[in-house]
Amino acid sequence: MVDKIYQAVVAYNDGSKFSQTIKDCSLSDLPDNDVLIRVHYSSLNYKDALSATGHKGITKQYPFTPGIDAAGVVVYSRSTAFKEGDEVIVTSYDLGMNTPGGFGQYISVPADWIVPLPKNLSLKESMMIGTSGLTAAIGAYKIMNHSFNSDNPNVLITGATGAVGSFSVALLSHLDLHVTAATGKNDQLDFLKTLGASEVINRDKVQNVEEHPLLTGKWSAAIDTVGGEMLAAVIRQIKHNGIVACCGNVLGNQLQTNILPFILRGITLAGIDSGITLMELRTKIWNRLAEDWKPVNLHKLSREISFFDLPDEFQKILDGKQVGKVLINLL
Ligand SMILES: NC(=O)c1ccc[n+]([C@@H]2O[C@H](COP(=O)([O-])OP(=O)(O)OC[C@H]3O[C@@H](n4cnc5c(N)ncnc54)[C@H](OP(=O)(O)O)[C@@H]3O)[C@@H](O)[C@H]2O)c1
Repeated sequence: MVDKIYQAVVAYNDGSKFSQTIKDCSLSDLPDNDVLIRVHYSSLNYKDALSATGHKGITKQYPFTPGIDAAGVVVYSRSTAFKEGDEVIVTSYDLGMNTPGGFGQYISVPADWIVPLPKNLSLKESMMIGTSGLTAAIGAYKIMNHSFNSDNPNVLITGATGAVGSFSVALLSHLDLHVTAATGKNDQLDFLKTLGASEVINRDKVQNVEEHPLLTGKWSAAIDTVGGEMLAAVIRQIKHNGIVACCGNVLGNQLQTNILPFILRGITLAGIDSGITLMELRTKIWNRLAEDWKPVNLHKLSREISFFDLPDEFQKILDGKQVGKVLINLL
């Protein structure tokens, strides 16, 4: 295949600090994997900001191009599973961790990381969903498959204005559940209502509660994107036989809890790791997201930027100041 120059966001470590810039790169610098993809769209995730700013445990070697999400068109394939011109989605696995990611105009990946773009979903829409939407949908899948005491379970979403949180609000409202959105951003009430939230509350009402091992059960289910003290408080406020799907560690990796919600209320704590979700479930969920699980207000969930503007966005997501999803155009 002929070598080619393309552009990518590259994170550098000069020994004392990390910086990010747009650079010319060469296809010959990409790993020699089965499938080469011209990326049309990507999206910004919390993990990307961690990689771009040198957070330990994500990316080992710099210079590096982050981006755990990519949607584009196959330009070369050694795999019989894909051919030139196929529209595809790649999220998770090692993409954007230690394999150059979707913030470059080309990626080279193993065939078994790739999901064919489902019918009824455009490349652009797939990245309005991205890893955060997939994560929310895996949480929704766990909740929808749970046996509740009630026919009308009500659901709490924490970190509701974030990328995972806002998609969770939109999807579970779309699935006709009564959704309470908990947020620290009091000025985003209209946004969350537009996504379908039945109720919007300040996150302090969930988190800053008494220390009792069990509190009044308020919600049948929750998707917690925050972790730490927030998750501990949520677990104590879930109704009998409820479920908490947790994915995030915005407030840290520690969870201090007690056994009573589990043995006196039968609570299920369900972890989500979208990165290693098996291909069978991953494909099934992407196909649902293209059909009956596609939120009607999908276009309200994201704001589009050019990848040239990406370096300004990393600190914002690290500071918890993003609202909804950042869709990245690499065309
Ligand atoms: N396990 C997985 O597969 C998986 C996949 C994707 C993401 N994640 C993780 O899920 C988490 C959320 O990701 P995201 O992409 O949605 O990030 P995000 O867009 O930055 O959203 C995080 C939200 O958390 C809330 N928050 C921020 N600081 C807080 C604080 N001090 N106390 C309480 N809440 C706070 C904010 O929402 P409000 O202002 O509305 O409260 C913020 O918008 C991250 O930890 C990410 O790494 C995990």
